[in-house]
Amino acid sequence: MTDKAQRHGLARGLTNYGDRGFSLYLRRSFAKSMGLSDAALARPVVGIAYTASGFNNCHRNFPELLEAVKRGVLMAGGLPLEFPTISLGEVFLSPTSLKFRNLMAMDTEEMITAQPIDSVVLMGGCDKTVPAQLMAAASAGVPAIQLVAGPMMTGRHEGERLGACTDCRRFWARFRAGALNAAGIAAVEDRLATTAGTCAVMGTASTMACIAETLGMMLPGTAAIPAVHADRLRAAEATGTAAVRLAASGPSVDEVITEESIENALRVLLAVGGSTNAVIHLAAIAGRLRIPVSLQEFNRLSDTTPVLVNLKPTGRGYMEDFFAAGGMGAVLREIRALLNLECKSVTGETLRQRLDAEAGGWVDRNTIASLDDPFEGEGGLVALFGSLAPRGAILKRAAADRLLFEREARAVVFTSLEDLAARIDDPQLDVRPDDALILRNAGPCSQAAMPEAGCLPIPKPLARAGVRDMIRISDARMSGTAFGTIVLHVTPESSVGGPLALARTGDRIRLSVSRRRIDLLVDAAELDRRRAELSRQPSPSIPGRGYSRLYHQSVLQADQGCDFDFLKG
Ligand code: FES
Repeated sequence: MTDKAQRHGLARGLTNYGDRGFSLYLRRSFAKSMGLSDAALARPVVGIAYTASGFNNCHRNFPELLEAVKRGVLMAGGLPLEFPTISLGEVFLSPTSLKFRNLMAMDTEEMITAQPIDSVVLMGGCDKTVPAQLMAAASAGVPAIQLVAGPMMTGRHEGERLGACTDCRRFWARFRAGALNAAGIAAVEDRLATTAGTCAVMGTASTMACIAETLGMMLPGTAAIPAVHADRLRAAEATGTAAVRLAASGPSVDEVITEESIENALRVLLAVGGSTNAVIHLAAIAGRLRIPVSLQEFNRLSDTTPVLVNLKPTGRGYMEDFFAAGGMGAVLREIRALLNLECKSVTGETLRQRLDAEAGGWVDRNTIASLDDPFEGEGGLVALFGSLAPRGAILKRAAADRLLFEREARAVVFTSLEDLAARIDDPQLDVRPDDALILRNAGPCSQAAMPEAGCLPIPKPLARAGVRDMIRISDARMSGTAFGTIVLHVTPESSVGGPLALARTGDRIRLSVSRRRIDLLVDAAELDRRRAELSRQPSPSIPGRGYSRLYHQSVLQADQGCDFDFLKG
């Protein structure tokens, strides 16, 4: 056997029995027990990280997609072998899917490196699956290509279009406010999510799909194809074919994900008014390759990147409209002047070559605006700094009420999610529409593990009086499908002694989006007194065993992507 043959295909990374010849003979024999011929075993092996699960509705189309990927691999002369990894179905996980993103990244990375794989197709979609797979690929050192489930189609309810999950929240808010009865909300529940695929708006899943395409880790034009569209199957077949090319000639993941392509991804996140979660995920992906993501730099990009996409939760349309309007290609063409065009994709072509080839493509201006006439002049997200968030916080300004952007407000503080659940609707709660609701102990190191709880509900008496938005501040995250004047990811978080831990009901808080500031207006002596008081309280206990223990010992803060300290590049 040649040296090359020993390092490729089934002969990669042999099981160690102390005799390489025996190891390969045994492996081939066992592979043959699956009916594979010598001809099949001589081909390059394309691994397919497969994440279908009975607990992941978003990946319901994966059996059909897998068949198409395999067809593409076979057509190009490779041997497709799928393997299961952890799947993260957003709404089926407790306390929150983010806690398990790093576990999925570890599982995926280890299976890519431990098995004889020449290149890998990453089949993901639901919120945390794509970042987990990209983090894994960045660390694994095997050429990789991303394929996503694609977004759901919208449903209909009494003449209105419905799409998970911005409309989930809109109707639930109506129900809480007493404007919709129990039968009405039950009917909506039946119609919110009716097809395979990821949430139908520019939530975290769609944002991460757009980012994966922008990074160059996905075939051009494939991020937004609806899950049930025939083009999705053709994209899967083409992805399989591309994976065989990748196995032969690369590029490697670190040639695709670079400082320049990360900057392009941040631009696109801002231009599509994407999910706040993506800031965390991009920092984690970049961190695997030692690429810094600075929130100050993020603000510079935000100031010079307009919002071009009119999709919920910030605008009107759904992902199926985005696809029909021209998809990611149209957005990239519009912001071409802002992008690093020499970045290479998994196809081997540069972004410049792609955009040159697509020049003049049709665009629906109702959904994707031109750079000269954007929906918003500045990026959809902004980082805030100040005495309440020394290392930063994130506000999705495109989804917020501008009337609340320059405000001093009285704080109404909830010390935990349990405290929030117990008191938010208490008729005796002293709260006014111009207060700022604050939630503590919901950051990455908390027992809650940074849930998407930052969109604190409007207290019922205020909701019933017609209040639709208030300033809300926390170290938690927010669903990419949510909206409101919501300051998130306050870093350092309260569980590790960040200033948020010192906030008390009655304090004054000042938010100034124009100055990128979020401040706790309490004098230093009083803060010192509170800090000393806090230090006398017992520290929260760390889970005694298992993954929860590893998580709590190793998770980093939001500005470092909530990755584990030992997984960074
Ligand atoms: Fe899977 Fe929204 S629940 S993408």
